[in-house]
Amino acid sequence: MATFDQIKGFVFDLDGVITDTSLYHTKAWRQLAEKLGVTWTKTLEDGLKGISRMDSLEIILKAGGIENNYTHDQKVALATEKNTNYVNEIKKMTPDNILPGIKAFLDDLRDNGYLISLASASKNGPTVLERLQLTDYFPKIVDPASLSKGKPDPEIYVKGAELLNLPPEACIGVEDAAAGIEAINAAHETSVGIGDAQTLAAADVRFDDTSQMTLANIKAKMG
Ligand code: G6P
Ligand code: MG
Repeated sequence: MATFDQIKGFVFDLDGVITDTSLYHTKAWRQLAEKLGVTWTKTLEDGLKGISRMDSLEIILKAGGIENNYTHDQKVALATEKNTNYVNEIKKMTPDNILPGIKAFLDDLRDNGYLISLASASKNGPTVLERLQLTDYFPKIVDPASLSKGKPDPEIYVKGAELLNLPPEACIGVEDAAAGIEAINAAHETSVGIGDAQTLAAADVRFDDTSQMTLANIKAKMG
């Protein structure tokens, strides 16, 4: 792991880190899964975190053993249906949906000269940032449409560091999903996980929730 004084930039996941949108993704996928007769489980739910829209749909269909029952066009229609429900949820969002401590952390990063980029698989990322009034903090956003592979592949985190003109070793990646931690580690960045110890066992540094994520606490854990 890098030492804290080597760190010059932060590459952030969005859903489940900056805001609670992972709940809305879950709600919309669950609604679709149950409509298709696929049993919803916690394992299925956790396995979708950080995973792109079409890959998430494939995982749900496979869980129900029905992945061969739909044409490509029908799958696109199902994913679009989920997205319409998700977009309706995020329309209601306000800055109150920013997770605890995140605004103060972003201010602290900015005041201390750290560079910041966004590495979310979500095509709705820029809209969510606007709803939260956080757009100004994220001048650099990896375009998920430009990716050849989703998380856990490191590509999105490699690009997040490139947008900051920093080597990966000078970056911390922040994630709530196991697939995301795997991506950060494979990109040779330092991984900060937000969530439970079992799911995020591979994280270099971990906090139970966002309120504990401060520069001082990260420094104390990195050495
Ligand atoms: C994030 C979320 C996933 C979501 C993905 C794509 O990674 O954690 O739950 O499926 O983004 O989001 P989108 O808004 O493009 O469907
Ligand atoms: Mg996430």
